[in-house]
Amino acid sequence: MYQYTDDDQTLIDERVTQFRSQTQRFLQGQLGPDEFRALRLMNGLYIQTHAPMLRVAIPYGLLSSQQLRKLAKVARDYDRGYCHFTTRQNVQYNWPELATVPDLLAELATVQMHAIQTSGNCLRNTTSDHLAGVSPDELEDPRPYCEIIRQWTTLHPEFAFLPRKFKIAVSGSEHDRAAVQLHDIGVYLVKNEAGEIGFRVLAGGGLGRTPIIGQTVKSFLEKKYLLSYLEAIVRVYNLHGRRDNKYKARIKILVKETGLEKFTAMVEEEWQRTKDDILLSDAQIAAMQAQFTPPPYAADAANHTGHKTQAEVDQGFAKWLKHNTVDHRIPGYQVVFVSLKAPDSPPGDITADRLDALADLADQYSFAEIRSTHRQNLVLADVKQADLFELWQKLDAIKLATANIGTATDMICCPGLDFCSLANASSISVAKEINEALDDIDYLHDIGDLKINMSGCMNGCAHQSVGHIGILGVDKKGEEWYQLTLGGSSDNEAAIGERLGPAVAKNQITQTVVAILDVYIQQRLADETFLQAVKRIGLEPFRDRVYANH
Ligand code: HEM
Ligand code: SF4
Repeated sequence: MYQYTDDDQTLIDERVTQFRSQTQRFLQGQLGPDEFRALRLMNGLYIQTHAPMLRVAIPYGLLSSQQLRKLAKVARDYDRGYCHFTTRQNVQYNWPELATVPDLLAELATVQMHAIQTSGNCLRNTTSDHLAGVSPDELEDPRPYCEIIRQWTTLHPEFAFLPRKFKIAVSGSEHDRAAVQLHDIGVYLVKNEAGEIGFRVLAGGGLGRTPIIGQTVKSFLEKKYLLSYLEAIVRVYNLHGRRDNKYKARIKILVKETGLEKFTAMVEEEWQRTKDDILLSDAQIAAMQAQFTPPPYAADAANHTGHKTQAEVDQGFAKWLKHNTVDHRIPGYQVVFVSLKAPDSPPGDITADRLDALADLADQYSFAEIRSTHRQNLVLADVKQADLFELWQKLDAIKLATANIGTATDMICCPGLDFCSLANASSISVAKEINEALDDIDYLHDIGDLKINMSGCMNGCAHQSVGHIGILGVDKKGEEWYQLTLGGSSDNEAAIGERLGPAVAKNQITQTVVAILDVYIQQRLADETFLQAVKRIGLEPFRDRVYANH
């Protein structure tokens, strides 16, 4: 994992000192709310319904156990004993006291963590595949490129005040697990006909009120041009993105209004002027790759197959093994998902005590590293198969072994009315109700791969527009209603969900979801997933059932 240089450390330490002075000046009345707003947003600090909300960056989702322990300590000392993992591989604290935020940031800086550029109209945390470096379907580890991008974006002098926020995702695998096509810039590692590895670059994707799938602007980019090409795109956006209307300010609107061909031509023209100025050398790339070398895997790990025998006699373990683990590229190892979707807690939330316990498990079973995923779960990426049974028992003891990864109760969900001042409707309580209704784990497993995403307003923090079932909170004369969409996806075949029909009232939302699943169960063909069934039969059968009494 990347270790800070002295320059990195100095930069974040100085940032803490600056922010301490800015916060003190605000609290003493020397800075007005508007002046302070711009400064706090540069440090990930929002003011929310109840308290400030601080968003901490986890570059490409990778954390050491030491960092995990620090997140726990911060949750305990500065917040209410828990934190929230978001869809963009960040962590949010919902209750810090403004006056103590500089101390909080100083603590984070001791473990190479910060909140710089996690909010505001700048280049945000670059996200990636949570299976980077361990997945069998990977062409090349994307994380060195993410780190190169992180260094390029951090405090980039030209891009501090973009028309709107800007998000980049990178994937190196065949299977897209990072929703690459739904980012302002999406980058796939690809191989060309000559067998060289480079990048396919997309632009103009994004969620929110106008969800749009990104389009390819460069089908093959040589590695050395990564930064110069990204810079050309962001420059074109910075120059031509709309600043007159917040809702039309994202690059997706620029690409849509300009047209792909013209937009690409503008980027090419910009790039021709600067392409050789910011070249990445092979040596730079190799030096960065050296920071992400594989851990010392045991050569004899594959000799153990006892977990399979244990699974035959222990149903609970067998289910967890099936749903919460996936294959590793090294024989004898397995990737373990830690579900943050337990029935009694809001999606993505985890307590300080569990974070500490998890840090110990990471030390013991997974080379002291842990990752956060785009679907608000955590991953222990390098677990020996020989340790799986023991690890499962320990995770189960701390209620982190809910065997629901990829199922209906593994919902993405934003904070909604509970914390967010922009919300139209609740999401956490609705998620809880749906989860309770689908509580039977066998039923869940029978439904199989199903992504339910729910946001409390049009901003779409929880990606409802790309959920297999999307749920969007809307306000109808002061009451909470929910708009449903079906057929969305953020995988390789990315798609925006189609609207089912009129919104349903809060007291009907759970029964509506259950009705949708009933239609699927009745109509599916053998082995057909929910998404495949929706594609095949269309929305009518679902509409007929849901709106039968309308
Ligand atoms: C509680 C405070 C929060 C506020 C005030 C907030 C605000 C917003 C706003 C205004 C947008 C719209 C962006 C746009 O239209 O371009 C947005 C989008 C988004 N937010 Fe949040 N959000 C909050 C919490 C969260 C949480 C908890 C998550 C993760 C679960 C999250 C992840 C995202 C993502 C992924 C998007 C979609 C961005 C895109 O267009 O690609 N946010 N948020
Ligand atoms: S989707 Fe809306 S309600 Fe939910 S967190 Fe985002 S801004 Fe708030």
